Amino acid sequence: MATLLGNSRKSGRDGARPSQDGLFPVPRNDNMAHDPHRPTYHFMPPCQWINDPNGLIQWKGQYHLFYQHNPAEAFFGRMHWGHAVSTDLVHWRHLPIALTPSPEGADKDGVYSGCIVDDHGVPTALYTGVHPEVQCLATGTDDLVSWEKHPGNPVIPAPPPGLAVTGFRDPWVWREGELWYMVIGSGIAGVGGAALLYRSADLRQWDYRGPLYVGSVGPGDTMWECPCFFPLGNRAVLMVSACGGVHAWIGDYAAERFVPTRCDRVDAGLYYAAQAFRDDRNRRIVFAWVTERRGERAALVASGWAGMLSLPRVLSLGNDGGLGVAPAEELNLLRGRHRSCPPQPIAGCTPLPPEIGGSAVEVEVSISPGSASVIELAVRRSANGEEQGLIRYDLAEQALSWHTDQGSLAPSLPKPAFKAGLRLASGEPLRLRVYVDRSVVEIYANNRIALTGCIYPSRADSTGVALLAHGGEAHLERLDCWEMP
Ligand code: FRU
Repeated sequence: MATLLGNSRKSGRDGARPSQDGLFPVPRNDNMAHDPHRPTYHFMPPCQWINDPNGLIQWKGQYHLFYQHNPAEAFFGRMHWGHAVSTDLVHWRHLPIALTPSPEGADKDGVYSGCIVDDHGVPTALYTGVHPEVQCLATGTDDLVSWEKHPGNPVIPAPPPGLAVTGFRDPWVWREGELWYMVIGSGIAGVGGAALLYRSADLRQWDYRGPLYVGSVGPGDTMWECPCFFPLGNRAVLMVSACGGVHAWIGDYAAERFVPTRCDRVDAGLYYAAQAFRDDRNRRIVFAWVTERRGERAALVASGWAGMLSLPRVLSLGNDGGLGVAPAEELNLLRGRHRSCPPQPIAGCTPLPPEIGGSAVEVEVSISPGSASVIELAVRRSANGEEQGLIRYDLAEQALSWHTDQGSLAPSLPKPAFKAGLRLASGEPLRLRVYVDRSVVEIYANNRIALTGCIYPSRADSTGVALLAHGGEAHLERLDCWEMP
């Protein structure tokens, strides 16, 4: 998202100077200013490392975003909670770091992930301190800028006795009547991931109630990070991060019992540690960490930045009972110059005119498959297609995928591919919304699935868009392209 500081083209990322409000100095890093891979409208800290979104909340009409942040270098390290505020989910203003490890405290080695709740008007953060992993509490001022740690920290000093846990972190808290509930991300050795349930009357004294759920999202699942538990429609969702992805168990919840009936991927690509919150329009909005694949430690540190948050998305329940994912409508506020393409047949490769495309664009397209067996949309494509990223829909496989084997002529850069199942009903067009932001690409299909990928083109002309159809003729119903800030 366009941030007012440190992340937009307007902000002058290249000098050491105070932010607009004078609160947050931006260190000088010339590499960052000239880095063609650094996104322009995804949320990022002013510099250095970001991972999980934390403490997402709408407070007094403003959206607050906290995040795992190492302000010392562009690599994972001693975690702090960074902080930013927005009125529209897409333009963010950086605020001072909210939570810093206390040298003698339970969080001396890092303020890990957690959440914020409204405790009768007092913003209250629950988070994990390390090492060892314990749960801590802090209360904030009404602007959520200054935080005081509870003198009795940690509020949960150890995992439940007798349980052989693989981890114990990332508290997520909600209210039921007069009581508070918390789930903590965990795993039980030899069994799978687990969300451990606690109950409290005052957020400070907690009783263990047993696991809310124990399960496996796939082979090798030993630990669930960043659990997030919330109602969606008439069902309950337990969203967990495990095995490199975000998974949503969808089920029913009553009287401290959760019984899931299915598990869906929230995104099939580079998407992790998602957290979802409800806003005053009753939307369940989710942000996650985009776990990009750019280089080794030395390269990241030299670049001065690492990671970003995904664009805001809205979760829903589909007609088939599965999870639906769509971009938040506020993203339309970022749309700049508009270009479109008239309806036309697609057979073979149809490169679009050069004015359609760019390194930071949104492309919205609707394609009827016709007799084609495979439809592709190429983005970040060089003039002759030497470099390109391909979004592919395979009708026989009923799957959407992202391919970067031609993504970069630079041999050292990674070229990942990702795939998600997408069943189109008979006569249903493929409807894509694709957000290209330099090295990151977020793909949304038919308001049902999402796929986040990365691409690191080396050529300055890798900004084109093309449509391709194989095995027959498809039909372009419409294509719109907007430059993004
Ligand atoms: C997920 C995670 C959390 C932890 C945090 C530390 O990415 O590993 O489990 O709290 O990151 O930064």
